[in-house]
Amino acid sequence: MSAWLTATNKLRITRVTSVRTESPTVKTFTFKDRRCAKAKPGQFVMIWIPGVDEIPISVSDANEADSTVSVTVKKIGEATRALHDKKVGDVIGVRGPFGNSFTLNAKKALIVGGGTGIAPLTFAAKRLSSKRNASKIVSVIGAKNIKELLFKDELKKACGEENFFATTEDGSYGFKGVASTLAEQLLNKEHFDIVYTCGPEHMIRKIFEHAEKRGTLVEASLERIMRCAIGICGSCLVGEYRVCKDGPVFKTEQLQKIKDELGFWKRDFDGKKIPF
Ligand SMILES: Cc1cc2nc3c(=O)[nH]c(=O)nc-3n(C[C@H](O)[C@H](O)[C@H](O)COP(=O)(O)OP(=O)(O)OC[C@H]3O[C@@H](n4cnc5c(N)ncnc54)[C@H](O)[C@@H]3O)c2cc1C
Ligand code: FES
Repeated sequence: MSAWLTATNKLRITRVTSVRTESPTVKTFTFKDRRCAKAKPGQFVMIWIPGVDEIPISVSDANEADSTVSVTVKKIGEATRALHDKKVGDVIGVRGPFGNSFTLNAKKALIVGGGTGIAPLTFAAKRLSSKRNASKIVSVIGAKNIKELLFKDELKKACGEENFFATTEDGSYGFKGVASTLAEQLLNKEHFDIVYTCGPEHMIRKIFEHAEKRGTLVEASLERIMRCAIGICGSCLVGEYRVCKDGPVFKTEQLQKIKDELGFWKRDFDGKKIPF
């Protein structure tokens, strides 16, 4: 069947069932959708804000038992601003879930997240910690300041207080500095089977370089402009890959192939390569 005719790609209309304010710029929206409730950590959905736009957002939680799905969204432009104005009961549309997911089979994992990238990683940490032979998870999250540091409590619960680390650029919580610096120190101190990372791409690049030096595997979730989300339009190209279809989670061997672009180049809405 053609990719655009699948049930996953069909736009479903649903209503917002809850809105939670996470920070001055970030809110979590929950809605019901049976298909998206099956999403795995790392997958994303296309959220249609009627009359405005359709945008890709990672799933930050999903529960098949009651068909609920959550997305955690930072207000940065027209569509995200309009979504932030939505209240319980308001109508939105959804397609997906799309893309691949984190593998989640490591015995000892380091999670490194920045900004809203912390959201899908928290979903991953919850799933890892709920497995029968739960993995050891150490998490490092970073933000500009304490107010923008997302999901502290959820991550402490999933990883254990002793395995939770945070950085803020202004030193208002945890270590003063950026997540990649603290992650490098942890990678120097102990062995991890894998690093799961999501957030600003310059942070992902640093994590990839630190991990590569030590031969530690990486899975990184990347963002690019998306339109179709099913591998047709080409707007999400990075190197030889389409982020919507081949990603959004990329493994070490793939990251090595896009090293020249990672953290340096992205594409604008016209498909032109522009620096980050
Ligand atoms: C796979 C994936 C997962 C994402 N997950 C999240 C998430 O969990 N939470 C979150 O807050 N944001 C997430 N984003 C980013 C989110 O899609 C953009 O912030 C949103 O599309 C911006 O729309 P806007 O109209 O508010 O901003 P605009 O005014 O359109 O743009 C503001 C900036 O956002 C970037 N941007 C705009 N549209 C897109 C797009 N379709 N894809 C990627 N970047 C874009 C552009 O570089 C632009 O400079 C994700 C993006 C991708 C590709
Ligand atoms: S968004 Fe169209 S090919 Fe990826």
